[in-house]
Amino acid sequence: MSAPLRIAVAGLGVVGAETVRLISTQGEMLARRCGRPVVVQAVSARDKTRDRGISLQGIEWFDDPVAMARNTDVDVVCELIGGSEGIARDVCGTALDSGKHVVTANKALIAMHGANLGQVADTAGLALAYEAAVAGGIPIVKALREGLAANQVNRLQGILNGTCNYILTAMRETGRDFGEILAEAQAHGYAEADPSFDIDGVDAAHKLAILTSLTFGCEIDFGTVHIEGIRHIDSIDIRFASELGYRIKLLGIAEMTDAGIQQRVHPAMVPLDAPIASVEGVFNGIVADGDFVGTTMFEGRGAGAGPTASAVVADIVDIARDRKTPTFGVPADELNVARVAAMADRDGLYYVRVMVRDKPGVFADIAGALRDSQISIESAIQRGRAEDGVVPVILTTHETKEARMQDALRLIGALDSVAETPRMIRIETV
Ligand code: HSE
Repeated sequence: MSAPLRIAVAGLGVVGAETVRLISTQGEMLARRCGRPVVVQAVSARDKTRDRGISLQGIEWFDDPVAMARNTDVDVVCELIGGSEGIARDVCGTALDSGKHVVTANKALIAMHGANLGQVADTAGLALAYEAAVAGGIPIVKALREGLAANQVNRLQGILNGTCNYILTAMRETGRDFGEILAEAQAHGYAEADPSFDIDGVDAAHKLAILTSLTFGCEIDFGTVHIEGIRHIDSIDIRFASELGYRIKLLGIAEMTDAGIQQRVHPAMVPLDAPIASVEGVFNGIVADGDFVGTTMFEGRGAGAGPTASAVVADIVDIARDRKTPTFGVPADELNVARVAAMADRDGLYYVRVMVRDKPGVFADIAGALRDSQISIESAIQRGRAEDGVVPVILTTHETKEARMQDALRLIGALDSVAETPRMIRIETV
């Protein structure tokens, strides 16, 4: 058997510790699959004394992960610290500059700096591997870059954030409000103490920007992702979605349109019989439509120690076997600069909820605003009479442009009889 593949692990949080544990417990199997043993030779974390449930005996300890990336004599540095700036970025940059392969689970880092780091890695013939950064344990990076390499994928949509999917699933199953479910998720450790990256769609957008680059062979462009989160989803919308035959999901969508590439993260209604509608709880799911293969779907755990460590070690196995692919599928200096389609160019169906004071003529006013914006109504629901006199009017539209929809929402919001900002949720039927 060849010489061992030597690994340094920067960050011994949940994922780092699980990666060390996995390499140890699966050692024999991994050695066969890698053609050589995989050995954790160095680690770095903040607190040496903490019990992580793993043995660090015989492993070199570094207080400074950047010094470890520079000085230790290893083949691969695993960056499992997180964050797009600071130490994580320095660890990856230093490792590559020192001629070491990098494996990372850091979506924010790849989304923000993947273009530069990928360029350094591709030029030096090193791996910058990030399977764990997108959808945790689902091998979607490998699938898009290698398994589907014979296809042009023209559209990809995914549930890329388990926290949001858990909250939306629990809201539907219990009928409870967003705030209550979020608080409960935080108490159980399913949501971060500061949940904004998850619930405001930023985490999903980081992952989508990476998938867009792999799908369309373009440079990562996080700045042009349209991002909306799930804070405004009301339990009333979840109920009406079910009544209309839909389920609400936070989707990341990368699509080639006539106007260019559109990248968007927002809540969406998907038909109940669409495969992605059945991806529930903390699970992630991705649907990619290839021109030769047709529709493919991937589902699995998008976060957590085991799934993330599984993806980290899969990248290590590729490096051990010297299986090389450019970081984003084509060499960094051949990636296109994407022609970006504006959100205003989205063509599609819409759900609109308007809370109105229940008076004669209200419905006609709303219909008039839609008519003036050249939007055709597909269905309308108004029933019941509330004690406070405010009732929901629910509309769905035929296909229209986002720009028209935004005009209509402004007109509707300005009507005297409208009690709250109208809520709109896009409907995705493909
Ligand atoms: N916080 C993410 C999620 C996992 O809830 O899916 C890490 O990106």
